[in-house]
Amino acid sequence: MKNTLKAPFLLLIFFSFCLSAFSQSGSKEQNREHVSLDKDWRFAFGHPSDTKKDFNTGIAYFSYLAKAGFGDGAANANFDDRSWRKLDLPHDWAVEQGFSKDASFSHGFKAIGRNFPDKSIGWYRKKITIPQSDLGRRIHLAFDGVFRNSIVWINGHYLGNQDSGYLGFEYDITDYINYGGENTIAVRVDATMEEGWFYEGAGIYRHVWLNKSNELHIPQNGTFVKTKTKDNTTTVNALVTVANDGKASKSFQIIQTITDATGKNVSEKTINSCSLNPRENKDFTCDLTVENATLWSIENPYLYQMTTSIFEDEKLVDTFETTFGIRTIRFDANEGFFLNEKHVKIKGTNNHQDHAGVGAAMPDALQDFRIKTLKSFGSNAYRCSHNPPTPELLEACDRLGMLVIDENRLMGSTQNQLNDVKKLIERDRNHPSIISWSVGNEEWGIENDIVGARIASSMQSYVKSIDASRPATAAFSGGIGSNGITTVMDLLGINYIVNKSTDKQHQLFPNQCLWGTEEGSTNATRGEYYRDNQKRIMPAYDKAPSASFISIENGWRHYNSRPYLAGMFVWTGFDYRGEPTPFDFPSVGSYFGMVDQCGFYKDTAWYLKSWWQNEPVLHLLPHWNWTGKENQSIEVWAYSNCDEVELFLNRKSLGKKTMQKDSHLEWNVNYTPGTLEAIGYKNGKKSISEIVKTTGTAAILNLESNKNSLEAWKNDIAMITVSTKDKAGLQVPIADNEVSFTISGPAKIIGVGNGNPTSLEADKYLETITVLNIENLKEKMVADFNVSDETKENVATDSWQKAFTDDRNAAFGEKVKNIVYRTEFELPANYTESTINFFYNSLGKQQSIFINGKKIADAIPENKHGDTFLLDKTMLHSGKNTLAIVATPLLKVNSWDVVNQNPGTIQLITKADNYKRKLFNGLAQVIIQTTGEVGEVKLSATANGLKSTEIIIKTVQ
Ligand code: GAL
Repeated sequence: MKNTLKAPFLLLIFFSFCLSAFSQSGSKEQNREHVSLDKDWRFAFGHPSDTKKDFNTGIAYFSYLAKAGFGDGAANANFDDRSWRKLDLPHDWAVEQGFSKDASFSHGFKAIGRNFPDKSIGWYRKKITIPQSDLGRRIHLAFDGVFRNSIVWINGHYLGNQDSGYLGFEYDITDYINYGGENTIAVRVDATMEEGWFYEGAGIYRHVWLNKSNELHIPQNGTFVKTKTKDNTTTVNALVTVANDGKASKSFQIIQTITDATGKNVSEKTINSCSLNPRENKDFTCDLTVENATLWSIENPYLYQMTTSIFEDEKLVDTFETTFGIRTIRFDANEGFFLNEKHVKIKGTNNHQDHAGVGAAMPDALQDFRIKTLKSFGSNAYRCSHNPPTPELLEACDRLGMLVIDENRLMGSTQNQLNDVKKLIERDRNHPSIISWSVGNEEWGIENDIVGARIASSMQSYVKSIDASRPATAAFSGGIGSNGITTVMDLLGINYIVNKSTDKQHQLFPNQCLWGTEEGSTNATRGEYYRDNQKRIMPAYDKAPSASFISIENGWRHYNSRPYLAGMFVWTGFDYRGEPTPFDFPSVGSYFGMVDQCGFYKDTAWYLKSWWQNEPVLHLLPHWNWTGKENQSIEVWAYSNCDEVELFLNRKSLGKKTMQKDSHLEWNVNYTPGTLEAIGYKNGKKSISEIVKTTGTAAILNLESNKNSLEAWKNDIAMITVSTKDKAGLQVPIADNEVSFTISGPAKIIGVGNGNPTSLEADKYLETITVLNIENLKEKMVADFNVSDETKENVATDSWQKAFTDDRNAAFGEKVKNIVYRTEFELPANYTESTINFFYNSLGKQQSIFINGKKIADAIPENKHGDTFLLDKTMLHSGKNTLAIVATPLLKVNSWDVVNQNPGTIQLITKADNYKRKLFNGLAQVIIQTTGEVGEVKLSATANGLKSTEIIIKTVQ
């Protein structure tokens, strides 16, 4: 091909061109910066209706909705947030709360939402410095996802609202910035309402970025790479949107370069003579060619990189990297799904976006852990139920080889709703892992009628207009109708075959592709084998919970035995918070998962592992610790992909059985303690064995990590499994000891869990912050600044007037040279357990401050940033304490000036308790995260009556 012949020559020119461009304009990073704003935020709860508790925001005569730059209360740049909690993002405040039966079933009874107004509005503030040298660049503030209904201000300027808890959004803040100085971001998040019927978290639970670029730049999500492969040649169609946010026209050149996974340049193309008018946005497209491309697949998720460079007058002004894969997908109404023209049966799971210990605020490395967990039992597909996921989840699926259904939140075809679909597709369209866009899930209100059909059809054609390379799907749960959604979708998702005959649908719509977007909804508690309604336990044998559902095994047999079905998605891969069906409070987590909320296998994961992948599998259930059930019959099941399995109890054979495809084996065994052993045969030969022994009681704690070393600078995490062993070294499957944890070195514990859906234990152990507002000031004019009577601990103030009754005008200044303010504040009985800070705001041009008669500040000058005092606890009492301030009054210069009347706050910080968690059926999980330094982390575990243990993990650069 022409392009290939010329490649070395073009490359040479390209590199010398780039070199000169870099030397003219500095490093390529200066053209575009993508800066994380995750660190060092301040956080406090506001209130939906009590304006005082909501920091008096939005109540001014002219509020932020009336006048530009009029953000008042906590939206004001000068608001004093020193007493607010310091934290880093991502942050989910829902997971930090306790449980309550008055809270929402859907949100796992975490005490937030309508019945908990004090814990439903969260305020975040952060100060950032933007250098003078950024003047002239375009600066965008981007949020990957905030749950939910957020309002954002910068420097008191209202930027906008975003009601979705799942879609990312960004604001162009170029014009609002204080260049060369401090800038204040304020975000109010309202999690009063739910969007889903599952746990959704609360707060800024995904990353926040500052994106800096030149006036001529590639806007957010501005590239779209499509590939087509014929024989050994792949045509890569590269679209880039370029925006000219300047006030003059621009001429420029675009160079598209493809590098392979080793970084080798494999193709490039130049688009010359491009131009844009001021404030114009345009798409520029070119085709590149890759010969003998390595295809992206589940087994070999090979990724390429497209580097888009924009040159204006030979100067590199923007560089943008797009990761993509080269692969083909095809759905066939009779034969199912093909990846790279190879038939692949979809072995999928549905998942929500929360994990034990951390809720919705998942560190990036946790995405990898979860995808690897699902892959470990052979799953090859992931449905993002029922909302746009965080970008890092999709990156993990691209990297690890997991197919994805990317799902829109609310079905609808108004402009707004279609715009949400557009945002989702434009954000995610370059991920090779995504094979379908889901436009809706079980829309009972419309799915069987003509309105549903119209909406589905509009959404489907809209999706096609943006991305024709992947089909839209809709998950459907109703019966067969002649009107509804089932009649219009090219790729229909069936939620539960008990609701609908796939055979009939296929017969009626022979050209329609079908897959099972939900199947299962079975209920199981990990490690439990008898139902107990009182204890809210569901047995872990794979049985249908009711006539409205079927077992995972029956579901898979249905889908795997019909070639026209592309495959199925189990409801669910991971357990999640909320939806504790079939129970209610105090069950707080789901029972649907193949693995629990920590990722520990329930037995059915072994069923899937035996039929969803090819390694030999032999797994026995239940455990063999049944004191009290001696001589009673116990169902023993074997999951295996062997041809035959023979079971032994204490060496005595209980018979060899032949395995049917996609099935399992069962024996009824009279319980005697000892050893259950199974031997699996393939082609008549012993292939694998499995032993389950009756254990003694727990004696020793045991810690195991999924990683021995962590990448210090990447906020890397280790997932630590906690278990116990008996004296003989056997893991005890029924241990329920409470274990306490301490950590030293460059990491912290960020959450604990144990997979028990009824556990009401804390996920996080955090310091508590109590803030006392200093109010009800009284004042008295005094002649001398160095008064002594008025500042004593006990002073009768009955004759003093309410502070600030008199206007602080010049006349007041003439009359009053010194003034004493007094008030009281109450400390709790256990105040000595806290660190106590006084965040003072100046009330005078000069002031001395007294607490209980003791001077803590002597004639200090006015400080616009406030003064902070760490209070000596020996000068304080529980109950009433007095505060006296002698000040030379602050005066207005103009009649409209506002003189500070707020002396500040007293903040009590009480240290967090040590992390602890009970083992649940033998297991618990601790998640630790690096704090950024290189060193050695030691996690120690102790429990009453057990030998303690510790684990060392290195953090490396
Ligand atoms: C489905 C629904 C899922 C989940 C599941 C529980 O109807 O789509 O989100 O609620 O039921 O059985």
